[in-house]
Amino acid sequence: MSQSSGPVVVSARNLAKSIVGPSGELSVLRDVSLEVMAGESVAILGASGSGKSTLLGLLAGLDRPSSGEISLAGQSLSMLNEDGRARLRAGKVGFVFQSFQLLPGLTALENVMLPLELLGRPADEVARDALARVGLSERLRHYPHQLSGGEQQRVAIARAFVARPAVLFADEPTGNLDESSGSQVTELLFSLNAEEGAALVLVTHDPALAARCNRRYKLIGGALQP
Ligand SMILES: Nc1ncnc2c1ncn2[C@@H]1O[C@H](COP(=O)(O)OP(=O)(O)O)[C@@H](O)[C@H]1O
Ligand SMILES: [Mg+2]
Repeated sequence: MSQSSGPVVVSARNLAKSIVGPSGELSVLRDVSLEVMAGESVAILGASGSGKSTLLGLLAGLDRPSSGEISLAGQSLSMLNEDGRARLRAGKVGFVFQSFQLLPGLTALENVMLPLELLGRPADEVARDALARVGLSERLRHYPHQLSGGEQQRVAIARAFVARPAVLFADEPTGNLDESSGSQVTELLFSLNAEEGAALVLVTHDPALAARCNRRYKLIGGALQP
């Protein structure tokens, strides 16, 4: 949990996002600005439906804002096409979802190798090391359906940090886990933040987890409040 005054790894300015849904246009985010420095941890709280996942998707370059600007590791997302954004994501961003999102047809090892392969980097040994770091050296050849929820999430965490990203986004990463696997996952995320220096942006409902972060915000009415 070391707070650093190093470079800005995530910069979002005046983000707005409207979504056209079944009952017309919905303004999910109205005006969100946020800076995350290298190595720091930021918690995002907010009621269900307040736009937390939408915000994380924008910050990670998975989705595009209706207006506003986002930079990741100094690169402006609006200047990049879809391929450029995919490359930037693979190299600079790790994402851990509530629902794991592993590719079901790939083994644990193959899932973790994927970001490195996208970057054209040697993958096998580095991915094995990442799986060892999350305690899954004995599960390399298992497919996601052959793993417990906690194990699947640890594979997803290995995949998220295998390329040494500048920032890890975690969207309610323990929401589908029992208490003991959940706390394993939480400890892993905080230790990667502290030891590998990846900034951590964590969406959580748990005040105790939020308290462990360097800063906390609440998403209310489409804006971040301290
Ligand atoms: N693809 C979509 N189509 C229509 N509405 C959506 C879509 N994605 C999200 N929303 C709506 O946007 C709002 C914010 O959703 P979300 O970001 O998932 O909230 P949270 O993660 O805080 O629970 C919700 O009201 C949700 O119903
Ligand atoms: Mg959500």
